Amino acid sequence: MHYPNSIAETIGNTPLVRIPLDSNRPGPTLLAKLEYVNPGGSVKDRLAKYVIEKAMADGRLKKGDTVIDNTSGNTGIGLAMIAAAYDLRCILTTAEKTSAEKVDLMKALGAEVIRTPTEASWDDPKSCYQLAKQMAEDNGYFHFNQYHSKENIEAHYETTGREIWEQTKGEITHFVGGIGTGGTVSGAGKFLKEQNPDIKVIAVDPVGSLFTDYIKNGRIIEASTYFVEGIGSDMVTKALEPEYIDEVIQVSDEQSFAMARKITKKYGILAGGSSGTVAYGAYQIARDLGPEHTIVMIFADSAIRYLSKCFSDTWMIKQGFSITEKCEA
Ligand SMILES: Cc1ncc(COP(=O)(O)O)c(C=O)c1O
Repeated sequence: MHYPNSIAETIGNTPLVRIPLDSNRPGPTLLAKLEYVNPGGSVKDRLAKYVIEKAMADGRLKKGDTVIDNTSGNTGIGLAMIAAAYDLRCILTTAEKTSAEKVDLMKALGAEVIRTPTEASWDDPKSCYQLAKQMAEDNGYFHFNQYHSKENIEAHYETTGREIWEQTKGEITHFVGGIGTGGTVSGAGKFLKEQNPDIKVIAVDPVGSLFTDYIKNGRIIEASTYFVEGIGSDMVTKALEPEYIDEVIQVSDEQSFAMARKITKKYGILAGGSSGTVAYGAYQIARDLGPEHTIVMIFADSAIRYLSKCFSDTWMIKQGFSITEKCEA
């Protein structure tokens, strides 16, 4: 009998679960890849495991060293978990908007957390991105650098993309995911397109993020803030390789949150905010497809991460969002 030697060994091989279509017409198979089943509760466990194990194997990192990165929460949780498993020190910088549930979990896992102003743009020295970069340079820490690392793409090429191909036995026709760093859609998208170039990769992006205009027109617009966490950006990232993306769908906070709440309530699937964004985009795509198609959606994390945010009626009302879960996708 083999028992996992550490929590790192239990990452990956997450389930694909069917989500019903809204209408009764014969439509595509709609599958959610439940990344919240990972031990740290998100898709980012894969990235933390892949990059840290690789760096330890090739001598860039050793026990007792310090790793640092900026995070919207999930990478921080994954990284803190892997750092605990491999006896590393972990420092994380994160914006004030990051939910209390995520910050508390990073701390519970032993990380040192520094909060930064949400409105500080990426090039501001006070932003979580610049602060982590500067601290790494000043102190010789291992800069995880999720936003610009090509290993981020590799992690999803080797694990997420490969798993989806094997789990669907090659039947996947459409892949839908959010872009935070871009690692998931670029890495999994690249793997899937190498197996079958006809597979369509669809990214979803919050209204306010610059990715939509960047991918469609190559333009870098000024971003504005939005509430959905983990996806969208105000900077272009090197972990995004737009050549693997066929289409981008913009989704508002209101649409994302209504969909996350609806899926959680209706199907018992704990869809986090960005899973709502992804599902909203996938339902748009599904409308034009017949039963011969299979859509795989990435549900990056869980509703449990947002109990004080989009799953709190009080918070939703305070932000001016509807709580009726009426969702027309
Ligand atoms: C909740 C959530 N959804 C989606 C993503 C997107 O993943 P990626 O960074 O690989 O683009 C992230 C990344 O932080 C996330 O936290």
